[in-house]
This record gives sequence, C-alpha cells and structure tokens, in this order.
Amino acid sequence: MTDPKFYQLTRTERLAWLVAHEQLSAEDAAFLAQQQPLSDEIAGSMIENQIGQYQLPIGVVQDVVVNGQTYQVPMVVEEPSVIAAANNAAKMVRLNGGFQTHQQQRTMLGEVVLTDLPDLKVAQNWVLANQDLLMRVAQAAHPSIVKRGGGLQAIKVTVVDQTFLKLALTIDTQEAMGANIVNTICEAIAREVQSDLGGTILLSVLTNAAFGAVTVATVTLEPATLATKQLAGEIVAQRIVQATRFAQVDLPRAATHNKGIMNGVDAVVLATGNDWRAIEAGAHSYAAQSGQYQPLTSWQLAADGRLVGRIEIPLPIGMVGGSIGILPAVQVAHRLLKVTNACELAGVIAAIGLGQNLAALRALVSDGIQKGHMALQAKSLAIAVGATETEIEPLVAQLTQAKHLNTATATAFLAQLRHNNE
Ligand code: MEV
Repeated sequence: MTDPKFYQLTRTERLAWLVAHEQLSAEDAAFLAQQQPLSDEIAGSMIENQIGQYQLPIGVVQDVVVNGQTYQVPMVVEEPSVIAAANNAAKMVRLNGGFQTHQQQRTMLGEVVLTDLPDLKVAQNWVLANQDLLMRVAQAAHPSIVKRGGGLQAIKVTVVDQTFLKLALTIDTQEAMGANIVNTICEAIAREVQSDLGGTILLSVLTNAAFGAVTVATVTLEPATLATKQLAGEIVAQRIVQATRFAQVDLPRAATHNKGIMNGVDAVVLATGNDWRAIEAGAHSYAAQSGQYQPLTSWQLAADGRLVGRIEIPLPIGMVGGSIGILPAVQVAHRLLKVTNACELAGVIAAIGLGQNLAALRALVSDGIQKGHMALQAKSLAIAVGATETEIEPLVAQLTQAKHLNTATATAFLAQLRHNNE
C-alpha cells in the first residue's frame, strides 16, 4: 500500500507532517491546531466598529520551486479548487525545473495634483528648477525611511488635460508596502508646492498602479508533462497557447483568465498579511495599460516545442507594516514560507499566479473545469451536511457518482452511510 498523499491526511496529521519535515515549529503547529481567535484587544484596535471575527481556512501549496529554492506556500482562500490547482501546477513545474522570477526594481509611486494655478507652464518649470528643495522637503517629512536607505528618488512633472499640474513621485519604501510613507511624502510636497506657487491641492496620494514594482515569473515546460488521460501533451500545449491568444482579443475571456491568476495571487497576499485590494487594483490597471484590457500571462511554443509561460504583474508587497506585525496567523504563515525579503515574496506570489493560470488553462482545454470542481464541490457539500472527518471520503465517492449534487442527496447518502455503519 502506498503512503497517503498530503491532501488525504487529517488536519492533525498534516500539521504533524510539517513539523516532522521541519517546515513548521511545534509551537506554530500548536497555534494552528488550536485555531485561537484574535484577542479583543487586537481585533478591536485593527478596525472601527468591530463586532466579531471572520474565519477563512489557511492551506498550503507544497514544494513550489522558485529560483532553485523550494517553498511551502500558505494560502488563505474560500474557493475549494484553488489550492488543489496550485498544487497540481507546482508538481508539473517541479518536473520542469521550477519557476524563474525577478523584480527589476521595487519603487512605489505617488501623485500630487494641484489645480487653479494661474500659469501651468510656469508652475511646471518651477518644479523642474526646484527638485533639490523638494527632495529636502521629502527627507524632512519622513526621515526614518531615509535612514533605512529609502525615500524620494525622482519627481516627474506634467500638465494633464490643460488643467492639472501633476507631480509623479518615485519613492523607495524598502521592505514596507509603503502607503503611509508615500502619502506622508506626497502631502509634504503638495504643501511646499502650494506655498510657493499658490493654487489648490486637489489630492496627494499613493497610486495603486504600482508599475515600479512589476514582477516577472517564467516557466518552460516539456509538453509531455502536460498530458492528460485523453490528450497528448503537445495538443494541450498548443491549446494553452490558443486560449491565451483568445484572451488577448476577447475582453470577457481576459477578465476570467486574470481572475484565475488572482485566485492564487490574492490567496498568498492575504495569508502573508498584505493588502489584496491594492494588488488587485495594480494588476488590473497593468492589464489595461495599453487601452485594451489584456491577459497578465502569455504562453508560447518555443522552437524546440517546449511551452514557455510568463507573467508580468505589479506586486507592491510588504514584509513589514500593516497587519503583518499584528496578526499571529500571518506571522506563522511567514515562518512557514521562509522568505527573507519583499522581492523574494513577490517572486513566489508571481510564480503562484502563473502556476494557477497554467492549471486552469490545462483543465479548460482538456477535461473542462467542472470535472475537478465537482469533486471539490462534493466535498464542500459533504462537510455542509455534517459529515465527520472519516465520513467525508466515502460520502464524496458516492456524491461524485450521483445524478444530482445537492443538499438533499448528500443528506440522504450520509444517513444511509451512518445506517450501514451501525
Ligand atoms: C475559477 O475561479 C477560475 C477560472 O475560471 C479561471 C480561468 O477560466 O482561467 C477557472
């Protein structure tokens, strides 16, 4: 008999496995086992008008190989098929040497916008001539980021719509996502410009079009490793390329293509305590930058017949700040993942996004998405009608053969199962 797979173990056994394989400390495993809610003190201080807590499961994608290193990637997600698909992709990619990733630069961008200026050209020239002054204002506004080696790096000034004076600020926020740092510097610069030139400060704030933190992940796969029971790997590879081409010319498909990518991206972003709305806004604005909303990944066949995938996505991820230092589960997730800096974390997230897309496209162009989904749907249904840990597997087996997958069928099958076991 072969050893059970990780997903076939009970939760307690999975935690024990992670401890035995030195992926998780015994303390962290005990913390996850207890499922402690946040203290009232923490929960109440995080948001206004807190009235309770909201639970979502934390899962793990095993052995994701990125730049030659192997990661256990935590994911927080409600959709049953996401982690199964990520694991499936991680396995295929492992057989092909893993993902390669890089983030060329990691800067955040802020916008300072003034209106009601008597002469926009004069104002623009003043900003160009007073860069040193504005740099000093930025340093004084946030000295601690300067001490850590970051701060304002560049100012670009433009006139927009013959109405707005816009200063685009490039800011190095080091290991933080940096919204507070950027907003503080933007507001200080806005006040300085207004005190010298007059006009009205319309707004000064970070932009979530974080195109200074674009992360690239790539993978090259032997078609044979993509084969399904019905289809040869070469056919699957060709269809993946075609499906991506279709997404490039069909907006409704591009939206779903990218949603599948964000299934993986958001789940890791959430597990690691980052701002998933910021990541979503950045990803979709990047996808739309040409004026036609585009898929975030591309899949092509190389001259040697191998399938080459690539994702390009802005990932202004933080390793410090926000909820990262506050939420105990986030800290456990970081200790499981073991990344050491924001750039490395962005690389893992980009890799997961690319893998998620690979798994979705492979399923779509071969068996269709429902086959895998229905098995997981059956599991959710089994849990919903009250199946215990040992009852889930036999109940799911019965449900996947059933004509109608619904609560009534699941309840009847469970009653029958219990009766047979009496
Ligand atoms: C479902 O959450 C995501 C997919 O629809 C993505 C896709 O179609 O590429 C499977």
